[in-house]
Amino acid sequence: SKPIKNICCIGAGYVGGPTCSIIAYKCPHIQVNVVDLSQERINAWNSPNIPIYEPGLNEIVQKCIGKNLHFTTKVEECIEKADIIFISVNTPTKTYGVGLGRAPDLTYVESAARTISKVAKTSKIIVEKSTVPVKAAESITNMLKSNHQPNVEFQVLSNPEFLAEGTAINDLLKPDRILIGGDNNEKGKWAIGQLSSVYENWVEKSLIITTNTWSSELSKLAANAMLAQRISSVNSISAICEASGADIEHVSRAIGFDTRIGNKFLQASVGFGGSCFQKDINNLIYLCENLNLKEVAEYWHQVLVINDYQKKRFVDKIVKCLFNTLNNKKITLLGFAFKKNTGDTRESAAIQICKYFLDEGALITVLDPKVEYEQMILELSNPQLNLPIEMVKRKVQLCSTDVIEACKGSHALVVCTEWDIFKTYDYKGIYEIMQKPAHIFDGRLILDHEQLISIGFHVEAVGKKLNNQ
Ligand code: NAD
Ligand code: UDX
Repeated sequence: SKPIKNICCIGAGYVGGPTCSIIAYKCPHIQVNVVDLSQERINAWNSPNIPIYEPGLNEIVQKCIGKNLHFTTKVEECIEKADIIFISVNTPTKTYGVGLGRAPDLTYVESAARTISKVAKTSKIIVEKSTVPVKAAESITNMLKSNHQPNVEFQVLSNPEFLAEGTAINDLLKPDRILIGGDNNEKGKWAIGQLSSVYENWVEKSLIITTNTWSSELSKLAANAMLAQRISSVNSISAICEASGADIEHVSRAIGFDTRIGNKFLQASVGFGGSCFQKDINNLIYLCENLNLKEVAEYWHQVLVINDYQKKRFVDKIVKCLFNTLNNKKITLLGFAFKKNTGDTRESAAIQICKYFLDEGALITVLDPKVEYEQMILELSNPQLNLPIEMVKRKVQLCSTDVIEACKGSHALVVCTEWDIFKTYDYKGIYEIMQKPAHIFDGRLILDHEQLISIGFHVEAVGKKLNNQ
């Protein structure tokens, strides 16, 4: 084994950027180049306004950038210099052809693999960091063989990323585990050892687990599917609570005390969002269908069905409380990001909720500290939502911080994201400037419902029946 001196990461996104910043931070002896085709994204990484908001990330980037951390579009040059190459490109759900709406689109993985194969003049370890279908490493190996130079060998490893947005830095610094899958032969084991040596700079060896490639790839899909399933399970129980008078917070707490179940990830909500859960479950469903495991596919499909149902249920309740029409009523959405502490809006529950509101003729003002206006409009003009863009721009506004402006004349506040700042607002003052009756719908269970009721609000919350006057 030779010490790893140079790492190249293809894809400077939510995974590639933070992951490599931590590698650079913890391994001053390794040069880390993060490359991307998007000049705009690379420019942003090299500017004071890095392209993603993630608590603690900017500080780490500023400590390492220009020393052993570099963001560049010189893809080929950086591939050639690297001992290890991470593939961290996007793998969205296919929107065309075979596997439409289910299978992950491997266009970007394939293009990265082909570039590597074309330009690498020495042997490399290739690490799939992107979430890919089971057996993708095999396909990547074949893509790499397409036109590689003589005497160049590639070892392909699977090393899925488990970070969650909003807590990425902590997740990367103190991971629950590092998972590395590789071939069960001499060369495979050697490659696993090389990658492991990088993580050993800050992760205890006992937390680095190794397996064959397929198990590693499947573990990533299974972990996300089981996390999402927990949320759908809790949300399904929240529907029972609303109908029966039980309280989901009490139920979650009670079941969470069981050490076999554990108390994390039991928060009832407006439904899960984010770029991973839905995509990865679809990926798993597609795999099951291909393996003729119809019942298994249906089982996981229900996790998505309940998630959509949760959003629909929430909106139905809002419409009902607002006298069955939202036509020309101003609704204030508290939060558009898919969770707190991120500006990411991919698959956010707020998108579908806005779609329902707009179909009802509502006027929407969104209050979110980190989401950008262009990003929000881009999400709402997704062709799948079938909303005319001019109408969206006319009816949806964004206020980053101006609470008064956002709430003035509003019929209802709707909490979609659990941002801490929403808990600190002066709701007495907000009540004064709203239309009466003033409604609050807490889709995240973050507000003090008793207090809001005593101010005069009509309050509804996910998973409970409140004693409104
Ligand atoms: P992203 O869209 O933020 O970033 C991907 C980047 O890759 C983009 O900037 C794109 O321009 C670049 N790219 C695409 N093809 C390229 C090529 N051929 N050469 C150079 N650059 C190229 O995506 P992300 O959220 O970072 O996700 C990346 C992968 O990691 C996905 O497979 C995802 O499922 C997985 N993942 C994501 C998370 C998360 O929290 N976002 C967590 C775990 C795993
Ligand atoms: C997820 C996985 O947690 C992570 O391990 C994987 O690498 C990528 O996918 P992420 O999507 O970034 O991470 O955030 P996560 O914290 O898992 O939240 C996903 C969604 O579930 C959010 O919309 C969140 O608000 C929601 N959620 C989470 C709930 O509704 N209730 C909960 O109890 C937890």
